[in-house]
Amino acid sequence: MLRNPRTASRAAFCKNHAAFASLLETLDYPFTVMLSKCGKGPLLVTKRCASTAKSPAKMMAWQIYQYGGNEELTLSDRARAATIKAPNELLIKVHAASVNPIDVKMRGGYGQKVLNMLRAQQGGLLGSEFPLILGRDFSGVVIETGRAVYGALSAYRQGSHAQFTVASDSEIAKKPQVLSHTEAASIPYVATTSWAALCTIGELSEKNAHKKRVLVQGGSGGIGTFSIQLLKAWGAYVATTCSTDAVDFLRNLGADAVIDYKTTDAKKELSKLPQFDFVFDAVGGPTADDSFDLLKKWTNAKLVTIVHPFLQNTDSFGVVPGMGRAVIALGSNLMKGFSAGRSYRWAIFLPNGKALEKVGRLVQRDLIHPVVEKEFPFSELPAAFQFVEEGHNRGKTVVKMVERGDQPH
Ligand SMILES: NC(=O)c1ccc[n+]([C@@H]2O[C@H](COP(=O)([O-])OP(=O)(O)OC[C@H]3O[C@@H](n4cnc5c(N)ncnc54)[C@H](OP(=O)(O)O)[C@@H]3O)[C@@H](O)[C@H]2O)c1
Repeated sequence: MLRNPRTASRAAFCKNHAAFASLLETLDYPFTVMLSKCGKGPLLVTKRCASTAKSPAKMMAWQIYQYGGNEELTLSDRARAATIKAPNELLIKVHAASVNPIDVKMRGGYGQKVLNMLRAQQGGLLGSEFPLILGRDFSGVVIETGRAVYGALSAYRQGSHAQFTVASDSEIAKKPQVLSHTEAASIPYVATTSWAALCTIGELSEKNAHKKRVLVQGGSGGIGTFSIQLLKAWGAYVATTCSTDAVDFLRNLGADAVIDYKTTDAKKELSKLPQFDFVFDAVGGPTADDSFDLLKKWTNAKLVTIVHPFLQNTDSFGVVPGMGRAVIALGSNLMKGFSAGRSYRWAIFLPNGKALEKVGRLVQRDLIHPVVEKEFPFSELPAAFQFVEEGHNRGKTVVKMVERGDQPH
């Protein structure tokens, strides 16, 4: 008896192929059946299609019906459940999710023009983006297989502040077994953003980082605490900046030099250090601009910032004019760099399951630790938003959807 149609996908040659096709359908597996002629006779082939994992019709989720403040967050037990629309998507039961500054910004409408354009392109926008579920990362379990995964969702997708979410297989990776879901949920968004800035845009890697002197501006938040650990795991020299109360914390995370920007003139203190090959800026404004002169000259040193006006411009001026302004702003920064063989670059978060796999291995080797500052139950998600919005974060804020039995495994 055929128990697993997956094994039949290559060459299930069957005289009575119509009966076989109907058998596959009754087995409720994620394959469509196509009959085709091949060689001597009819060949039954199967093709993976959208997973048939059963979505519940309704789920618990925090939603917003319009952009605004925390008062817009509404808990519903009848939210339209996440549904699978593409062959590479998976339905995931969310066990924990983090709250990032991007969620607070998106609650207020940040990025809406570009994101609505992407939602329309992906066919997922029917009239309006509302009700909108926020939350960009999570740790949970794939419904179909029971596999524990963690991931960060593309910004156009419905989010993870819900009982279930849908992610593509390129947005997730195996959850590090040494972490609980709460710990694992603290990692994906900051890890993939740091990876985009340091590696994809900044061209750092496991192989070349040990030769580099790197400055992380804004070391005490979610991005800073993750990127310091990644860079140290790769053997880089890391200097960083933070407020007074976080100095010891960042030294303990492994930073080689920690400059307190509250009680000292950070620019002056940093300029006393040998110059840097790389600045990763998670603060923006004058802090980013002032860092540029801390880079070595004529060695292809780079400043990569993740705090830039790209989406703000598109919200204020429209997608095309906003992008035009962004190009002009970035261009003027680039020109400044060309004069001394340095470069100034912008980076944005990109989902990246492969990066999460590599990060997971560093976690398993005890080289990267989750930094969870505060946990909230799912029912108190607005308090978690408020906590993140107040700033001065020391690592990550996580919301637990499943309270019981959250142990590493
Ligand atoms: N472009 C993208 O795709 C992208 C993706 C992720 C994040 N971001 C942005 O990157 C920034 C950092 O994200 P995050 O998740 O790390 O935020 P976070 O957790 O709120 O941390 C920000 C940290 O910066 C510190 N800080 C503020 N001003 C500083 C200064 N002048 N010098 C040094 N440290 C300073 C804050 O601590 P104190 O105030 O106590 O000093 C805080 O710990 C946010 O603005 C976020 O929106 C952008």
